[in-house]
Amino acid sequence: MSRAQIVEMARSDLEYGRKGTQDQAKGLFKVPVSHYFDPDRFREETEKIFHRLPLVLGASAEIPKLGDFKTIEAVGKQILITRTKKGVKAFINMCSHRGARLVQESCGSAHRFTCPYHAWTFNPDGDLVAVYSAKEFGELDKESYGLTRLPCLESAGLVWVTLDPGSELDIGLFLSGYDGLLAEFGFGTWHHQKTQRVEGPNWKVAYDGYLDYYHLPILHRETFGTDIGNKANYYSWGPHTRMGRPDETLQEFEDLPDEDWPDERIMAGVWTIFPHISIASFYGGGRSVMISQLFPGDTPETSHTNQIFLMKEKPETEQQIREAEAQFALLEYVVEEEDYATGIALQKNLRLGARDHVLFGRNERGGQYFHNWVDRILETDDENLSDLFLTG
Ligand code: FES
Ligand SMILES: [Fe+2]
Repeated sequence: MSRAQIVEMARSDLEYGRKGTQDQAKGLFKVPVSHYFDPDRFREETEKIFHRLPLVLGASAEIPKLGDFKTIEAVGKQILITRTKKGVKAFINMCSHRGARLVQESCGSAHRFTCPYHAWTFNPDGDLVAVYSAKEFGELDKESYGLTRLPCLESAGLVWVTLDPGSELDIGLFLSGYDGLLAEFGFGTWHHQKTQRVEGPNWKVAYDGYLDYYHLPILHRETFGTDIGNKANYYSWGPHTRMGRPDETLQEFEDLPDEDWPDERIMAGVWTIFPHISIASFYGGGRSVMISQLFPGDTPETSHTNQIFLMKEKPETEQQIREAEAQFALLEYVVEEEDYATGIALQKNLRLGARDHVLFGRNERGGQYFHNWVDRILETDDENLSDLFLTG
C-alpha cells in the first residue's frame, strides 16, 4: 500500500515533468516578521510544539543491538534512549534519587546504568535495581523510583519521543501514516556512519530552507550546480511533507509494476517530518541519507542541527570511506556556509522594521503549509491536540 502511494507520487512528478509545470499554492502567503524573533512567540513554539509533539530523537541504526543506548539533549531536556528486550524505550536522563544526570556518554552499550553521584543503579527498562548502602539509606519502595519514562515509538527505522511524560497524544496518530511511507527506505537495516553538528539561525528560518527548492540553483550554484532545478511538488500526510520534483525522465519506468520502480528514484527528494526533520538522499561512497535533526536554541536567533548520516551499506573500501567523508564534509559546508550563513544575515534584517512580513510564493507551498501547521498547533489546547491529527 505504501509503495503504491510512493509510486503514485512518482507518477505525479512525471506528469508535472511532462507538462513543464509544478505544484502551486492558491496564492501568495505572508508570515509576520515578528514570528521569527518575538521572544513570547518563541517560548510558545518551544512549549507547544517541541515539548508537546513527538520528535525524532534518533535512528534505529544508532542503537542497533540489544543493550545499546544513546543520550541526547533536546530543547533543554536530557534524554536517554535504550534498546531493551521489550523494544526501544526513552527516559529523562535523570537519577530518581537527587536528580543527577544518570548517563554521561553520548552512546554505548550497557546492561546497567550506575549514577555517578551515589551509585543508584538502573536497568535499561528504567527500573531501579540497586541502592547503595540500602540499609542505611532507609526503607524505600523501589518500584516508585524508576526513571521517568517518556512516550516513545520506533517505526520505519526512526525513534520518536515525546518530551512530556504525561502526553496523551498517540505517536502513530500524529504520524498520520507517513511512517509507513518512510519505512520503504528500510532504515532499520542501514548503517549509522556519522553524526556532525551545525549551529544555525532561528529554527524556522532554518526549516524554511529545507522546504524550499526555489533557492537551490541560486544559493547553491557553486556547490550543487545550476542544473538542479528550482521546482518542487509537495505531498503531505498530516503536518509532514515530502518534496518531489517534476521529472520527465521517470517515464522509462511508467509501464512497470510498482515493485520494479527503482527505490533510489522513487524515494528521492526531501522527506520532512514535522516539526524538525529533513531526510535527503546522497550517493557519496554508496547510497546514503542525511537526516537533519533541528532543535531551537536558547534564544529565538539560535538553533543547532545534528546531521545524522545513514548508509544503506557500511562503506568498506578506503575509496568508499573517502567518498562518504567528502560527501558529509560538502553537506556540512553547504548547510553552514550557504544555508545557515544566509539565514543568520537574513534574521538580522527581519528585526530592522523595514518590512512587516516575508512572502512565500505559490511555488513555495511547503513553507506555506509548514507555517499554517505551526499556527494551528499554537492555537490548539492540550485537550484538542489529538483531534488536530484525526482531521489531518
Ligand atoms: S543522585 Fe543519583 S544516586 Fe544520588
Ligand atoms: Fe539550501
